[in-house]
Amino acid sequence: MEDIMIELKKNVSEKRYIHILGVIDSADELAEKFSVSKERARLAAIFHDYAKGMSKKNMLEFSKANKLDFDDIEYGNKELMHGKIARHIAQNNYNVNDNDVLNAIEFHTTGRKKMSELEKLICLADYIEKNRDYPGVDKIRNLVDIDYNLALYTAFNGTIIHLIDENKIVHTRTVEARNYLLSILNEKGVCV
Ligand SMILES: [Fe+2]
Ligand SMILES: [Fe+2]
Repeated sequence: MEDIMIELKKNVSEKRYIHILGVIDSADELAEKFSVSKERARLAAIFHDYAKGMSKKNMLEFSKANKLDFDDIEYGNKELMHGKIARHIAQNNYNVNDNDVLNAIEFHTTGRKKMSELEKLICLADYIEKNRDYPGVDKIRNLVDIDYNLALYTAFNGTIIHLIDENKIVHTRTVEARNYLLSILNEKGVCV
């Protein structure tokens, strides 16, 4: 694990490294709530932004060389491409072979419908780690103790609203993830 952290530090900015440490801490804290092992939560957290420091040009070259497939919305969008690239690096350079961990790394950028508990955990840890400071973050943090699905639903709503306000494309997976969480909340009778 120490070797991975040394390599990770070389690949991302100081600010990004501090964010990743925050996500590892949050993942650790959330593991019990999501009934996920701390080891798997930490492993997915360590790798989730491994590729975030790559330039767009490097991402495109890496993807071509390694035959990574992206849809039209993802292709050329660094925010959306870094998850799948990080998955590839974790799998091929570090022999991570736990499919749920790999999915959590890949899909932390958008979420998706029927996302696993570990996938939800990493998305939520990414939204609420202690260095995050954006309008509404404290509301999401407070919701975690009420219902973590409600917390993540609220976070996805915030992202979708923000992207619409900024005239940016919303990935369909994020809309599907939001709808999926709403169906879970409705089924459980949680007030939204
Ligand atoms: Fe990310
Ligand atoms: Fe992140």
